[in-house]
Amino acid sequence: MSDWLVRGGAVLRGTVSVQGSKNAALPILAATLLTEEPVTLLNCPRIRDVENMLRILESLGCTVKREGDALTVDSRTASSFVLPTALSGELRSSIFLLGSVLARFGEADAPYPGGCEIGNRPIDLHLAGLRRLNASIEERDGRIRCRGGNLSGAVVDLDYPSVGATENLMLAACRAAGETTIKNAACEPEIVDLEKFLCACGFRVHGAGTPTIVIESVKRGHGATFRIMPDRIVAGTYLLGAAITGGDVTVTGAQPETVDTLLYRLKECGCIVTQRAESLRVQAGGRLKSVGFTATRPYPGFPTDLQPQLFAALSTADGTSVIAENVFENRFRHAQELKKMGAENRIVDRTAIITGVKRLHGAQVVAHDLRGGAALVLAGLKAEGETRILRAERIERGYERMDSVIAQLGGTVTRKE
Ligand code: EPU
Repeated sequence: MSDWLVRGGAVLRGTVSVQGSKNAALPILAATLLTEEPVTLLNCPRIRDVENMLRILESLGCTVKREGDALTVDSRTASSFVLPTALSGELRSSIFLLGSVLARFGEADAPYPGGCEIGNRPIDLHLAGLRRLNASIEERDGRIRCRGGNLSGAVVDLDYPSVGATENLMLAACRAAGETTIKNAACEPEIVDLEKFLCACGFRVHGAGTPTIVIESVKRGHGATFRIMPDRIVAGTYLLGAAITGGDVTVTGAQPETVDTLLYRLKECGCIVTQRAESLRVQAGGRLKSVGFTATRPYPGFPTDLQPQLFAALSTADGTSVIAENVFENRFRHAQELKKMGAENRIVDRTAIITGVKRLHGAQVVAHDLRGGAALVLAGLKAEGETRILRAERIERGYERMDSVIAQLGGTVTRKE
């Protein structure tokens, strides 16, 4: 466990390059099992969730090697279809391995992921989809046992465009006989990145980024070298850092079109946003203006993964803002922590009403989850005095060296192990 001390009164200024995307890297790492040849990934972030995924791949028999920016996963030696309980418990997205382990070994045995800090997070859509591909699934004693020696393509119509279920089905379908069509698929940019990776490995997938994805059967893929897309949520977090502190931050190596909905909000708050092909600059000055209404939704809607950070920024804006959280049912736990810092907000069911205050003050707060933790760092930078964030190791699940990045921008975050 680690506590972070955030020194208040900072104004973030400068340029940072954005890390590789966590939510693209995790399913791509799961996909390395499909190829049976070494795969080299560039720009794979050094974060806790990725390290856990790598340990799980090793426990299945894969060989993993990092050399500078290159991460090589060799799955030729993989031999186990049983996902380890403790490691998988720490990493919810180990559920992506169900599809690829099943495709590779014709069998998969995984612990049930259960709920987590931000909601119940059922996996019914993953399992129903795999059943459509002819897998037989038994849920017993907290484990999921899948058999799928004869996976066959099918039309799978998802009741909801779940990111994880779409990715899991893409992975399972790559080696299933015949053609699979996923309807009402999630359209997130990370799904497009997974498709690009799969195609680079010789699989036949198209349509990602639209609600219909088609996967044709390929018996075995091949190795590839692939660069993981930049992390749009991390980019957005530092841009919101500029906004809340009245600073001027440029994020390079970004894909501006993937954070459109945030850029609209930043402009509404009174920030100047400059967009180039691969960089984004946010200049803020004076007090932010409130934003009428924001509702989180699947892509291209406003991302739930930026809701807590936007919430923190709006906590100091002039006026009242409303945020509806439509994706996860328990993703407002940062609200009560921000109140300890002097913020004013009220949660009614899945809607937050935020009345901006002129000042926040330092306090002892808890990072209940990854993005909520990042929001508290932003609020701590803005506050008067020092903020101590308990359970801040949760932030390391998704942010690479956040303390160093903030130091580069002129802020101070000190880690206490
Ligand atoms: N859902 C179901 N049944 C299912 C699957 C999902 O009811 O079988 C529900 C979930 O409970 C949730 C909603 O559908 O209420 C959305 O879940 P989704 O499956 O789309 O999300 P996920 O795949 O579990 C990924 C990201 C999350 C991100 C969401 C939404 C990864 C590793 N995780 O989760 O990232 O919030 O999509 O965009 O890609 C984060 O990075 O902080 C994070 C939580």
